Amino acid sequence: MDKYIITGGHRLSGRVRVHGAKNAVLPIMAASVLAGDRCRIYDCPNLSDVAHTIKILECLGCRVTFSESILEIDSSDISSWEIPEELMREMRSSIIFLGALAGKMGRARMCSPGGCELGNRPIDLHLKALRELGLVIKEENGFIEANAERMHSGDIHLSFPSVGATENIILASVCLNGETTIFNAAKEPEIVDMCEFLNKMGAKIEGAGTEFIRITGVAHLSGTEHKIMPDRIVAATLMCGAMTTKSEIELLNVRSAHLGAVVSVLRDSGAKIEFFKDKMYIRAPERTGSVDMIKTQVYPGFPTDAQSPVMAALCFGGGTSVIVENIFDSRYKIIPELKKMGADILQDGRVAIIKGQKLSGAHVRAMDLRGGAALTVAALGAEGVSEISGIHYIERGYVDLDKMFSALGADIKKTN
Ligand code: UD1
Repeated sequence: MDKYIITGGHRLSGRVRVHGAKNAVLPIMAASVLAGDRCRIYDCPNLSDVAHTIKILECLGCRVTFSESILEIDSSDISSWEIPEELMREMRSSIIFLGALAGKMGRARMCSPGGCELGNRPIDLHLKALRELGLVIKEENGFIEANAERMHSGDIHLSFPSVGATENIILASVCLNGETTIFNAAKEPEIVDMCEFLNKMGAKIEGAGTEFIRITGVAHLSGTEHKIMPDRIVAATLMCGAMTTKSEIELLNVRSAHLGAVVSVLRDSGAKIEFFKDKMYIRAPERTGSVDMIKTQVYPGFPTDAQSPVMAALCFGGGTSVIVENIFDSRYKIIPELKKMGADILQDGRVAIIKGQKLSGAHVRAMDLRGGAALTVAALGAEGVSEISGIHYIERGYVDLDKMFSALGADIKKTN
């Protein structure tokens, strides 16, 4: 298994480009099946989750090529509506294919996504909403089988603005007769990116990025081209790397509007951050200040995906900071690992209290994607050598995180 070996304490400098967003490209890849045509996607990140999604598309009968960040998906010969169990288990967010396959093929079959590294990941909101649109869904022996013969447009009120459920409803309804409105929709920028892609294909979606999304069904979609939005969580992770190493770096390909909550917290802890068009400069303080309270929330609140890297940065702070994790229960698996590096963190349920101090290198294990990235930024600032195992988690969402940091001057090597 691959590991990162990191000798901490090197200041970073220079610039690095942020790659396309994982959480945008995955639903966009699912959306491409609706085209029944060729779609070209630019700035597609070369991630293991993208590789798994390519396998799913190929199993469904799509032709896919991927080279130099350009992904081409030709869904004109799509013939299957079934996602093999092993592929579904590899990547539980593939549930997003339920709406897309129901919309395109009129049927879908896949296994139910149970527990994942973030704990039990329910899909009750997805299923309730799709059933309200007339999708007949049978759940048996861990499998979901859906029949869209009687699907119809309608109003959907989400009790919680789930990102995946919002995407599934949109994908299921773009080709339904009539108007579907989602109330209390998720507002994440990745949903906006998916809707822009669908609208270029000929869909009629209004209100993406707000809590009311109106989808007017169209009879036909066709192929298109689209550039994936920059990954705001990769940008946040690199910013935290600047914080733990007390460095000044420049990020290219960022959107300031997507990073508001993270920028605000890091400014509160002493960072100087400026944006110029799609560039950002961050200069970390010599001693990171504490932050009174960070509560993870749905967008535009503080993103749960940035919580672990920011926790790692606050471990080096000059005071006591408090984090409340409101979205995923299991985001705190990183705490025992940070403690091995000397971090002082007290956890009670959703609340973590972090007392800043110096960390030192240790052997630690990534337990999930963002936690793994957070251990990397902690190790960059720690004294001495750290070894991080379980980096396959990191590779699900970061293209060569080691190379991004070594291009900035970090001492980080990937070994087997
Ligand atoms: C997406 C992102 C993930 C991010 C999350 C929140 C992708 C591939 N993943 O995940 O990186 O952390 O948004 O920004 O885009 N929930 C239910 N029932 C449901 C659906 C969700 O109870 O049917 C709960 C979840 O357990 C969680 C919360 O709602 O506590 C948020 O989940 P959701 O917004 O659906 O996130 P995902 O789409 O899974």
